[in-house]
Amino acid sequence: EKGGYEHFMLKEMYEQPKAVSDTLSPRIKGNRIVIEELGMSDEEIRSIRKIYIIACGSAFHSGMTNKYVFEGLARIPVEVDLASEFRYRDPIFEPDTLVIIVSQSGETADSLAALREAKAHGVPVLGIVNVVGSSIAREADHVMYTWAGPEIAVATTKAYSTQLIAQYLLALKFAQVRGTVTDEELEEMIQDLKELPDQIEMLLNNKEKIQHFANRYIAARDVFFIGRGIDYAISMEGSLKLKEISYIHSEAYAAGELKHGTISLIEDGTLVAAVLTQESLYKKMISNIEEVRTRGAFVLAVTNVGNHEVEKTADYVIYIPKTNRYFTNSLAIIPLQLFGYYVAIGKGCDVDKPRNLAKSVTVE
Ligand code: F6R
Repeated sequence: EKGGYEHFMLKEMYEQPKAVSDTLSPRIKGNRIVIEELGMSDEEIRSIRKIYIIACGSAFHSGMTNKYVFEGLARIPVEVDLASEFRYRDPIFEPDTLVIIVSQSGETADSLAALREAKAHGVPVLGIVNVVGSSIAREADHVMYTWAGPEIAVATTKAYSTQLIAQYLLALKFAQVRGTVTDEELEEMIQDLKELPDQIEMLLNNKEKIQHFANRYIAARDVFFIGRGIDYAISMEGSLKLKEISYIHSEAYAAGELKHGTISLIEDGTLVAAVLTQESLYKKMISNIEEVRTRGAFVLAVTNVGNHEVEKTADYVIYIPKTNRYFTNSLAIIPLQLFGYYVAIGKGCDVDKPRNLAKSVTVE
């Protein structure tokens, strides 16, 4: 049932090109985004003044990425909340708010409770869900499915990737209706979206290089992931992938915050994974890389092809192919997933069933 792969996690990472393509292609009609099942009128979409994205774990990280995407493309203010926090903080529900609940299983107790809380306040809820007919899918006012197929490994990979895609599509759909992107921009972005599956495949085929690198870090004690903006969001997911399956302590930090705390933990040989996919932030990131290297860190950089400047500062560089700046997380996550996976198997961990974790958290 693992289709020749050693673990479900590896199989599911390899299913990402297909999962992404299955999530994308039914929603792209020529140069337009059409989300038939959404059931929201253009008038409703135009009236949205605020979005809450609410989720747990990796699904929350997908929302962190998409805060930048919704705000940048559709110009709608977005707050991203952990479901377990949102429910208990007496959130402010104003008219023209949309609540988006993101969940692979559609059964996560806190996410479901947040959905009910929003509905009780008369706020429309859109579920971005993978499991068809799950509780969140049934109770939400609108549903958009991520067509990742069944995910068995506890650590999410392909479902996470489709959560990113579904939200890009939604942001673009909103932008299209609200007129915040031009037809040419939309056309270009659709072209970039269509290239993602092949680009993901290409990155997956680079796995030996990452395995080789990962083997050097199976005895690591702490690893830090740093980035700015959208790259901070992917750092959070990269850090979770590593720690949940390899049991190595890791932390994601907004690169600009380093000197307000984490930098005191950097020692000789500490691994810092720096993600820099946003051209406008290269310079700032490179100076953060220099800061940690001066303190002895070994720096792995994940950056765009063509960013040669970083070679002079980082110790080891992994390149991702060119895409729109809003979509880079779909590519940058692939080497980070592979890194977590290979460190964990190098340590002999049970990657598909990490200790203490359940695939679907149905208790509060
Ligand atoms: C991490 C992981 C979890 C889930 C979280 C939410 O690899 O899988 O953090 O993302 O438990 O689960 P869903 O998406 O089912 O609500």
